[in-house]
Amino acid sequence: MQIEDAWNAVYIQAERLKSVHLRELFATDADRFSKLSVSIDDLTIDFSKEKLDSIALDALLSLARAADIEAKRDAMFTGETWNLTEGRAVLHMALRGGAQAPAGDAVDAVRERFLAYAEDIRSGGRFDDVINIGIGGSDLGPVMATRALAPDHDGPRIHFVSNVDGAHLTDVQRSLNPARTLVIIASKTFTTLETMTNAHSARDWLGTHAGSNMAAVSTNIAACAEFGIPEERVFGFWDWVGGRYSLWSAIGFPLAIAVGAEAFRSFLAGAAAMDRHFRKAPLKHNLPVLLALVGIWRRNAMGWPTVALIPYDQRLERFPAYVQQLDMESNGKRVTRTGGGVATATGPVIWGEPGTNAQHSFFQLIHQGTDIVPVDFVVAATPREKLGDHHALLLANCLAQSQALAFGKTEADVRHEMAAEGKDADDIDRLAPHRTFPGDRPSTTILHRQLDALTLGRLTALYEHKVFVQGAIWDVNSFDQWGVELGKQLAARLSPIIRGDEATTDLDSSTAGLIARIHNLED
Ligand code: F6P
Repeated sequence: MQIEDAWNAVYIQAERLKSVHLRELFATDADRFSKLSVSIDDLTIDFSKEKLDSIALDALLSLARAADIEAKRDAMFTGETWNLTEGRAVLHMALRGGAQAPAGDAVDAVRERFLAYAEDIRSGGRFDDVINIGIGGSDLGPVMATRALAPDHDGPRIHFVSNVDGAHLTDVQRSLNPARTLVIIASKTFTTLETMTNAHSARDWLGTHAGSNMAAVSTNIAACAEFGIPEERVFGFWDWVGGRYSLWSAIGFPLAIAVGAEAFRSFLAGAAAMDRHFRKAPLKHNLPVLLALVGIWRRNAMGWPTVALIPYDQRLERFPAYVQQLDMESNGKRVTRTGGGVATATGPVIWGEPGTNAQHSFFQLIHQGTDIVPVDFVVAATPREKLGDHHALLLANCLAQSQALAFGKTEADVRHEMAAEGKDADDIDRLAPHRTFPGDRPSTTILHRQLDALTLGRLTALYEHKVFVQGAIWDVNSFDQWGVELGKQLAARLSPIIRGDEATTDLDSSTAGLIARIHNLED
């Protein structure tokens, strides 16, 4: 089937289903859950509360076939130059045994070296604290995973500094002793302004300990040496690892220090298991493919521009921020792989916070606002440690939210309930519209047994491959990020003007006006 025909078939299904309420879809098909959910081992994705049915799903699967998903996936896994604009292969899966690394790249040797060093740090007693300095992919992955695996921490305390705002480094350093702190500079390029600015300030703070208390993770080995970090404490990786896909490389070093080599290997093994599933499972049972198609349905068929990612798991509090970079930097594109204009809308806005906290801040809008915001819920059946009734309440809240979103509460039910409570007719008329929930609001629930290292690896790789599939359907390059360059260039031009080293010339009146105000307000 031609891709245009496949898109049209999806749009026809969307027209059919747009006006059918989720209440009706459930009422007319008792088997929705078994038809519209998939599992591998303990991991289940339930998309039966999305506004689609088996016929729509078939149309989406035809779209995936028309977009040649399997061939594209195989091209990526076998090391073709998939990232065309940067002339690179995309092989982060090779870092976890899910693909073959290019010949000559010492993936296993570097991994063994940084894991051995992580174990030395954990058992050596030299360091009480570790500061990881990095930003974007050199920060968000390690932060997310280190926080997620908190129950496995038995090494030194790990801190993360990313922002060029000096407050970030200052606040972290305040309570630390430079003699007993290891500073890791994590930067694929070793040129990123924020990271290098923080690296210089941290080196000054370490003072006489700088020679012994710094390590680096980078593809730019020469720059690490120039910065003064000895070779034995530099851990390399390769240009076929994108920044936002680099958590599996030595960029995961702080995680390895926190949880140890064994748990880190288990994290890699989880991701490799998802790689195998993605490569082998038929499309209609393939978790990343189905998650991606649900996203295509939301974004292109239904026209919803955002997605709320809500882990009902406090330890996944940074997972939305991690997926936000993964997804938005990958698929926030407006031209195709070959440079033409895209035919459809591409990556949605991804945002989120953990539940139940989210219920008490922005869920009001998701339930009763004028926009539809699809939700991804992520939740574990069992907690890492039992504490009274907490987990049952967490699960009950998670399931209750997806129920409330899908089915809502009709005005008739509200009126009936208020009458039963003995409210008078005027009150019922006045309050019923406010207390009515429209429902028909979609969500997907991702359920797993427990958040351990293996499962975190599977979940993370699930989202990575979802992003790949969507990028392949939209025909964009998911592995470059030219959109961040202009801001970097302009900041480089503005910084001497803000410092007062250069005159304000040729600036638009807003920027010039703001700089003048800044100069007036400075001490
Ligand atoms: O924000 C752009 C970006 O290039 C990200 O893709 C990357 O993760 C981040 O900057 C950090 O880059 P580096 O690891 O080279 O310091």
